[in-house]
Amino acid sequence: MEQQQWTRIVGAATRAPSIHNTQPWRFTASGDSLQVRTDPARALHALDRSGRQRIVSCGVAVEFAVVALRALGSTVDVEVLPDPADPDLLATLTVTGRQAVDTRAEELAAAIDARHTERAPFLPRAVPSEVLDRIQDTAGELRVWSKAIAGEDEEVTATFLVSRAEEIEQREPEYLEELQQWMRTDPAAADGIPVAAVPAEDPAVRPSNWLIRDFVVGSRPAGSHRGLDPDAPPPPVERPAVVLLGTDGDDRRDWVTAGRALGRVLLEATSSGLVASPLTQALDWPATRAQLRSRLSLIGHPQMLLRLGYPSEDRSPSTNRRPVSDVLTFD
Ligand SMILES: Cc1cc2nc3c(=O)[nH]c(=O)nc-3n(C[C@H](O)[C@H](O)[C@H](O)COP(=O)(O)O)c2cc1C
Repeated sequence: MEQQQWTRIVGAATRAPSIHNTQPWRFTASGDSLQVRTDPARALHALDRSGRQRIVSCGVAVEFAVVALRALGSTVDVEVLPDPADPDLLATLTVTGRQAVDTRAEELAAAIDARHTERAPFLPRAVPSEVLDRIQDTAGELRVWSKAIAGEDEEVTATFLVSRAEEIEQREPEYLEELQQWMRTDPAAADGIPVAAVPAEDPAVRPSNWLIRDFVVGSRPAGSHRGLDPDAPPPPVERPAVVLLGTDGDDRRDWVTAGRALGRVLLEATSSGLVASPLTQALDWPATRAQLRSRLSLIGHPQMLLRLGYPSEDRSPSTNRRPVSDVLTFD
């Protein structure tokens, strides 16, 4: 592969979502291979002590690189954690040959650029069950399970744990300081979360049980997600599908694989006209993560809670990435 082609592939890989847009990855291209490593210097020590969400983020980048390679007509072999002595080397991708490019490969690659996290309210339109089935099949191809949070009991459990985790976070000075470090007021900043991508949580326009992460701490009045003005006419209620992705095990290999499945699910959802935003607060803390597992009687480990729905006209802006030259080296 030419250097120019690797630059293009890594450009696609870095469009991956990452926790707080930390972009915790590095790439080395050599001949027909691409190594994907995690960059521990970009770890979130308060929110993500184990590094799980950092590795999941890198797993998405692995999958976006695979999708971009397939759209160029390459067949690709992926080896996860190829060197036990080097755990930061998360995957090696090797181009093994050529194949005809089908429309599906092109659609998925186009979804890489079209996707971004959408935290604004969704349209009051339910996600059809066929789409949720497709998402389940997509994750299942990598042996990652997907469970729609359905029915009142499950919804109450999950929303309670998300709110509980938010409360814990608001009381953790280290968490708040770290969050502050990754918020960006300069819209041209190459990493972190631009304030414009985080719409204010206004109960008048967002009647939902599902709390998005409170990025601008203190902006949300206590209990605002339930505190609608009783005299105001009811606004349209968003009807997100909320999907939990999980794995049987919970080690580095499972995290990379969960990230790859998340990447596929997000592209599948985007190409079906959906948008998504992660709601991972309940998974940040071992206690709420364990409670989610036991109260939903899950066999295995939750890795990602995703809110999915149809976007309204007011799309939030997409976020920036560091230049490829900062993260790609040639061997
Ligand atoms: C593992 C992981 C966890 C995330 N958790 C949250 C979350 O709890 N709340 C949220 O609003 N966004 C969450 N995000 C989305 C990131 O903030 C987002 O991907 C990043 O800012 C880049 O923006 P983009 O997805 O629009 O490209 C998460 C992303 C990943 C990969």
